Amino acid sequence: MANAMLLPVLLSFLVLPFSAMALTQDFCVADLSLGDTPAGYPCKALVGAGDFYYNGLAVAGNTTNVFKATVTPASVAQFPGVNGLGISAARVDIAVGGIVPPHTHPAATELIFVTQGTIVAAFISSNSNTVYTKTLYKGDIMVFPQGLLHYQYNIGTSPAVLLVAFSGPNPGLQIIALALFANNLPSDVLQKLTYLNDTQIKNFKSTFGGTA
Ligand SMILES: *[C@@H]1O[C@H](CO)[C@@H](O)[C@H](O)[C@H]1NC(C)=O
Ligand SMILES: *[C@@H]1O[C@H](CO)[C@@H](O)[C@H](O)[C@H]1NC(C)=O
Repeated sequence: MANAMLLPVLLSFLVLPFSAMALTQDFCVADLSLGDTPAGYPCKALVGAGDFYYNGLAVAGNTTNVFKATVTPASVAQFPGVNGLGISAARVDIAVGGIVPPHTHPAATELIFVTQGTIVAAFISSNSNTVYTKTLYKGDIMVFPQGLLHYQYNIGTSPAVLLVAFSGPNPGLQIIALALFANNLPSDVLQKLTYLNDTQIKNFKSTFGGTA
């Protein structure tokens, strides 16, 4: 009986210091060595200005790949200062003729700002599969709601560069083509799932690095 009454009191003492800290804490730079949790990374003890700065987006990404495009992330793993702040960034380089194929970010809404080039960008609604598509020129922005499939491709005659803002420190990235064809999903299962034939599936697997 006494124990049952004591427990809530003990619990409140356990919880109080943390909730008080949450109200007064300015930031929580990620200690990447401690691993991610659903609430973000634990906080690093010693913090300096460099933790809130990242120069990894200054360099163009390497677009020599099947998509002729590269996403350079500035997520919490690269930029620990964004931990807990509900924000992060990326740079997208799309060579002439390149595409960022249909993909989702499960944990963030995305906003793009075209700093160079001309692209088509679109997202697809989940309730009616409506395609919302626009041509974007230098200086234009577009927003892609969290979790929805979207894509971009370069329609210009010069490389396109996008600055990306995400509404979360760890947006995640899942590309449909790679989810299906860059792994060891058996060819006969993929035939059922995609209505493609064996030859087509082997071609996709070979293009995207999957095993037969
Ligand atoms: C770009 O990537 C390709 C393919 O991985 C590689 O062969 C090439 O050396 C890379 N270029 C640079 C400048 O790193
Ligand atoms: C697979 O599908 C392609 C495209 O429809 C067709 O050209 C090809 O003959 C098919 N291959 C087989 C083995 O059925």
